[in-house]
Amino acid sequence: MTDTLTLRRPDDWHLHLRDGAMMEAVLPETARHFARAIVMPNLVPPVVTGAEAAAYRERILKANPGRGTFEPLMTLYLTEATDPEDVAAAHASGLVKAVKLYPAGATTNSASGVRDFDKVRPVLEKMAEIGLPLCTHGEVVTPEVDIFDREAVFIDTVLDPIRRKTPGLRVVMEHITTKDGVDYVSAQGDDMGGTITTHHLVINRNHILVGGIKPHYYCLPVAKRETHRLALVAAATSGDAHFFLGTDSAPHLDHDKESSCGCAGCFTATNTMSILAEVFEREGKLENLEKFTSVNGPNFYRLPLNEATITLRKGAPVTYPAKIDSANGPVTVFDPQMPLHWSVDA
Ligand code: NCD
Ligand code: ZN
Repeated sequence: MTDTLTLRRPDDWHLHLRDGAMMEAVLPETARHFARAIVMPNLVPPVVTGAEAAAYRERILKANPGRGTFEPLMTLYLTEATDPEDVAAAHASGLVKAVKLYPAGATTNSASGVRDFDKVRPVLEKMAEIGLPLCTHGEVVTPEVDIFDREAVFIDTVLDPIRRKTPGLRVVMEHITTKDGVDYVSAQGDDMGGTITTHHLVINRNHILVGGIKPHYYCLPVAKRETHRLALVAAATSGDAHFFLGTDSAPHLDHDKESSCGCAGCFTATNTMSILAEVFEREGKLENLEKFTSVNGPNFYRLPLNEATITLRKGAPVTYPAKIDSANGPVTVFDPQMPLHWSVDA
């Protein structure tokens, strides 16, 4: 029986680090296990220009606890006013690794997102030309569309039309939550990738709604029914090169989540690797864990694989703190509601 697993150091292809006191609190949780992360630009105000991304990167490096092994991969927040030349320059300098599309109003801090997709055509065309990936928050926000259907409708009405109109554009469908997303992404060529979060491999919508409302399981896209979770587990553990880890670890203060209008986001940076090892082992697919966490992502982004490694060990269940502290209050760590037998060597 395998009880030690050494992997190339993992990367997180979708992460919210926030800023200021929250960043100070959450950055060590990611830097402990991960070599690199695609850092989401949905600050208030958002990270729109190359200059803003460079300044944010400096703040992250300054807050990094010192080991110097963690590399933030910066992204730009696509708005209808984004300048294609600024994007191209930020890419050419090596600073920016992706541009993020939020449909306006889809999720936390997305008010500056895109309403009219024709307005961003010049940016998308420039990105296709230079090979810069577009990361998509794959949900429509039309009020008529049921929240559980928003992802499937996004594929048909936004994602597929954008890809058809912009040949060569490399696109990541982020935090896939449905079988529809899995089926779409897996049927495309190598210009299409899909990230899957840790929590969507573990929870379905019952976790949010049964036995009382559970705000710490509420995130966007919202978890769907069990058939979808099973499709996500099958995709993540398959080894298929389209799929890689993007935790979407999204910290909010407890009092902002435990509220009459609670924020969306699960904070999974702390225990992600233990949870993933458990999920992959249950599927009998531990041999594919490294592809999901450490190989498929860099290959999609055309970045080198990490040479450093981490080692996971199987033993008595490991526990993680229920919360981490920030200067402004506690942040609850995602509880997978199952014993975790794999610990990560420090
Ligand atoms: C994210 C956040 O809090 O920034 N929330 C979430 O539920 N995932 C935004 C996002 O990625 O949708
Ligand atoms: Zn996110």
